Amino acid sequence: MKGFDVHTRPALVISECQNEITNPAYGSEPLVQQAVERDIITGINTLAAAFRDHGLPVVHCTVSARPGFEGFPINCALAAKLKKTNLLITGSVHAAIHNDLIVANTDIISERHHGMSPFSGTDLEMTLRGLGVDTVVLVGVSTNIALPGAATEAVARGFTVVLAEDCTAGGTTETHRMQVTMHLPLLATVTKSAAVRGELEAGTYRPTASATGAAAAPGPGSSPAPDDGLTAEIDLGKCSGHARCFAASPDLFDLDDSGYALQAEVRIPPGSEDIAQAAAAACPERAIALR
Ligand code: F3S
Repeated sequence: MKGFDVHTRPALVISECQNEITNPAYGSEPLVQQAVERDIITGINTLAAAFRDHGLPVVHCTVSARPGFEGFPINCALAAKLKKTNLLITGSVHAAIHNDLIVANTDIISERHHGMSPFSGTDLEMTLRGLGVDTVVLVGVSTNIALPGAATEAVARGFTVVLAEDCTAGGTTETHRMQVTMHLPLLATVTKSAAVRGELEAGTYRPTASATGAAAAPGPGSSPAPDDGLTAEIDLGKCSGHARCFAASPDLFDLDDSGYALQAEVRIPPGSEDIAQAAAAACPERAIALR
């Protein structure tokens, strides 16, 4: 799938899954009903768990206004409607992330206080760049406005965009269908969340075995390696201090006081191979080779 090629790094970007916008206990707009009918919160929780399991970023993008809508330009009909209802106020339960949407302590929250899409005027782009991300997997709401806006903004910034359609909703079934069949395919790979999870499982986006230096599995009859344990070799010259290895496993990958990898070689104890693979895949500089 485009966006999950070798050496890409995807992130899950969840748009506006907030109580007032997607939770029927708070909001009453048709979009809320669509989010419920399509059960997008369950789907997003499943997909987000898969991203976290693979050491990949999960970002929640929210919109809310300061009290009195201070500094929120009322320059379109939707902005006027939001101001009139006056519920999407920063810090309120209406503006909070959907009560049933899991927010892990490794997740990132990107808040904005203006506009209709998540990149403009926020640090979302630089946060994704800092995480080494080049593929944005969009989910959430709405396929009417915020998601096409996010896709357009992401493409303009050089990201590859994937949309997990079953984890999205629009104001009506008709507008959703029109957007995901006619508009969004011009900007993004429109697919299902199961296909995205399949890409994560396949791991194609990670460096190839030869690129990571991972040892090939011994063939039948081959003699065992003198020491069959795994070692992570870190190219300290390549390390730029992204600290994704440390985030994957602080026990294995230590950092110096400047945030750079401390050791050039780390012995990987039996049972920790998967987490070492995840750390190697997470390093944007491809500085970690497993041998
Ligand atoms: Fe360095 Fe990569 Fe870790 S840049 S700090 S080896 S994630």
